[in-house]
Amino acid sequence: MEGQLRAPKGLAGVAVTDTAIAKSDADGSLLYRGYPIEELAANAGFEETAYLVLSGKLPKPAELKAFSSDLAKRSHVEAKVFEIMGDLGPDAHPIDVLRTATSALGSIDRESDIRGKELSIEAKMSTLVANCRRVPRGEAPLEPAGAGGFAGSLLSMLTDRDATDYERWVFERTLIFYMEHDLNASSFTVRVVASTLADPYAAAAAGLAALKGPLHGGANEGAMQMLLQLKSPEAAVSYVDEALMEKKKVIGFGHRVYKDFDPRARLCKEYLREMIKRRKGDEMLYRTCDALEKEMWEKKRLPPNLDYYAAPIFYFLGIDIPLYTPIFAASRVFGWMAHYNEQVEENKLIRPDATYVGPAGLKYVPPERR
Ligand SMILES: CC(C)(COP(=O)(O)OP(=O)(O)OC[C@H]1O[C@@H](n2cnc3c(N)ncnc32)[C@H](O)[C@@H]1OP(=O)(O)O)[C@@H](O)C(=O)NCCC(=O)NCCS
Repeated sequence: MEGQLRAPKGLAGVAVTDTAIAKSDADGSLLYRGYPIEELAANAGFEETAYLVLSGKLPKPAELKAFSSDLAKRSHVEAKVFEIMGDLGPDAHPIDVLRTATSALGSIDRESDIRGKELSIEAKMSTLVANCRRVPRGEAPLEPAGAGGFAGSLLSMLTDRDATDYERWVFERTLIFYMEHDLNASSFTVRVVASTLADPYAAAAAGLAALKGPLHGGANEGAMQMLLQLKSPEAAVSYVDEALMEKKKVIGFGHRVYKDFDPRARLCKEYLREMIKRRKGDEMLYRTCDALEKEMWEKKRLPPNLDYYAAPIFYFLGIDIPLYTPIFAASRVFGWMAHYNEQVEENKLIRPDATYVGPAGLKYVPPERR
């Protein structure tokens, strides 16, 4: 078509919108609303970061208190939604259960204003995450106990094990890292849905659909399954060599933006090492992760991404693997809602063009003559 611009495959390197929410860069930097991720990891809490991502500024103490209490108050999920989740049965993957439950929430939500709807999704998502495996298996639903804030409360619903203060702090850091990442596939999906002026529940359900895939949010589960098969550093090295020879992707490595290192993975690797040291945990798991990372760098110059090091942290915390991608969603939903708002504020329907490469002018052939 005349005048048509051709974008590269996967829209790689194409800026399709302005955003003031976050910026990841090839040099290994990541900003949330101007704050480097290292600065937030060292100092901020989950709710504080969520407020920042949503509103563009760090909250004053009273604002933080009101936001945290609003989230806690709205975390209750209606029995009807748990019933629908239960009907899906024990074989349903938790991320599919979560997506279905999000749609169900949307159809019974009676909030009249958009901000109220968004707060409800943000608050209820973690309750749904805590239940998206247990309820389809016939277990009774859990509600957040309220203590420990957003992260502490989610962690205590996800595991029976008593976490130490350091482990709770690390879990909160992984949630902060998962919260936002500019135009990743699921946030872009959310913006496409927002641009049609569909409601935030529809956008969140679409975000969850995009998050499921192993090239995006599903990577943390894939990475852990891979690591569990590799019981030693030597096995990790052979695995990488074989995968690369067969041109297979090694889950948990590579990134569209980061080429040398993912700053979130670097921090998670430090936390993992410290967790294992403090609990005298599985040294072999850490050494296996490290050997695989070194081999991937040596042979392919690909760094590990956040999913690669978040996975063994979740494993070490005693969380079931099929819950890893849902945990990602419990946090990313705040970023999704920030994108929803930014899109709607200066909306233009997202409707790109395609270069047609198929045939034209064909004549209809009746069925008996095909
Ligand atoms: C994240 C990802 C989709 C980004 O991909 P991208 O920018 O589109 O890059 P491509 O998939 O085109 O890969 C470019 C090259 O690196 C290779 N590559 C990328 N990631 C790889 C991986 N994880 N393992 C092995 N090779 C990989 C590709 O095979 C390709 O090699 P080639 O040029 O020799 O053909 C990709 O790195 C990937 O699939 N990673 C594994 C899944 C994952 O961990 N996802 C979570 C992302 S946070």
